[in-house]
Amino acid sequence: MFAKRTEEVEPFLAMEVMERGMAMSRAGTSIVQLGVGEPDFDAPPPAVLAAIDSLRSGQTHYTDSRGIFALREAIASECEARRGVSVSPDQVVVTSGTSPAILLCLNLLVDPGDEVILATPHYPCYPNMIAVCGGKSVLVPTGPEDGFLIDPAKVRAVVTPRTRAIFLASPANPTGAVQPRAVVEELSSLGVPILSDEIYDGLTYDDAEVTSPLGFTEDCYVLDGFSKRYAMTGFRLGYVIAPKPAMRALQSLQQSFFISTSQFVQQAGLAALFEGAEHVERMRQEYAARRRLLVDGLRNLGLSIPIDPPGAFYVLVDMRHFERDSLTLAFDILEHAHVAVGPGRDFGKVAEGFLRFSFATAREQIEEGIARLSKTLPKL
Ligand SMILES: Cc1ncc(COP(=O)(O)O)c(C=O)c1O
Repeated sequence: MFAKRTEEVEPFLAMEVMERGMAMSRAGTSIVQLGVGEPDFDAPPPAVLAAIDSLRSGQTHYTDSRGIFALREAIASECEARRGVSVSPDQVVVTSGTSPAILLCLNLLVDPGDEVILATPHYPCYPNMIAVCGGKSVLVPTGPEDGFLIDPAKVRAVVTPRTRAIFLASPANPTGAVQPRAVVEELSSLGVPILSDEIYDGLTYDDAEVTSPLGFTEDCYVLDGFSKRYAMTGFRLGYVIAPKPAMRALQSLQQSFFISTSQFVQQAGLAALFEGAEHVERMRQEYAARRRLLVDGLRNLGLSIPIDPPGAFYVLVDMRHFERDSLTLAFDILEHAHVAVGPGRDFGKVAEGFLRFSFATAREQIEEGIARLSKTLPKL
């Protein structure tokens, strides 16, 4: 017997399509991967060198559970530079990825039976982690017709005495939506802690501007990391910037759950913050070109993409006219076109019938994927 709460943890279907695709690759079929949310770039060279130097000099030990001071200081400075809000290094906990940062904050805020509000389509891990804490996800739908923007009135309408947090993800996975300043300001004024997942901040196009709720409310937990912006997924490095009164409890949770983040990985993060900006900008420009290629290519196939995604590296495409559920459609496309894409169902009921295409993959792959889809989609 396993604990009841594990029954509420849904499988990540994009991974299942990807894994089937990998098995087909091993059997000799060439598969175009447009399903995964992982940059195909190498990590910034200064980060790699810093990790090697750190390992060579014997930095293989536990650190302060909150992270090495120099990194917390650099994260606090970057926060001021990027979000225009001054925070203390004592408000930072460095974690092994953004995922543990989310888990720490949910454990901090959510008791069994409590509610957490999130806009949907949503990142699939949020409801899973909320469920593991015994909480209930309260979903507020957004749609393609209004660019997946959140209507704060709809959020206000579902706030109850049991509401413990509102998730805000801007830019968002899987829609790429960037929430306007007025929406962020209004959500920040509801008197509920904001969990602001800013992992895709910096990956924006066409002058889209990301607003952090940290500028409007002190009751804000910024969740961020190095996976996407710095293409450092495998380093496992993230952090939370939290309100001062929360720090003691967060520190205790971090000590018990994870002890500390790897020392040499933290040194890599420090180097990325100090020396990675140029590398990040080069990647962003390449994503912008890939986005153009993917969005135009899909539109030329007659698919409806209401807005060019202003951020992140995903396009959520309405495929409801194919009249089958998104998992079946994703497997059909994999089988017949040899292109792996993400089933919308991963991201909530409102995204059923949609597919998520990622442009975190090379231009040649995107071109090849579109060419394959142009031959196969008419037959489906
Ligand atoms: C919105 C969002 N938050 C968090 C994460 C987790 O990232 P990390 O690799 O830092 O744990 C992801 C990864 O895909 C994501 O899309």
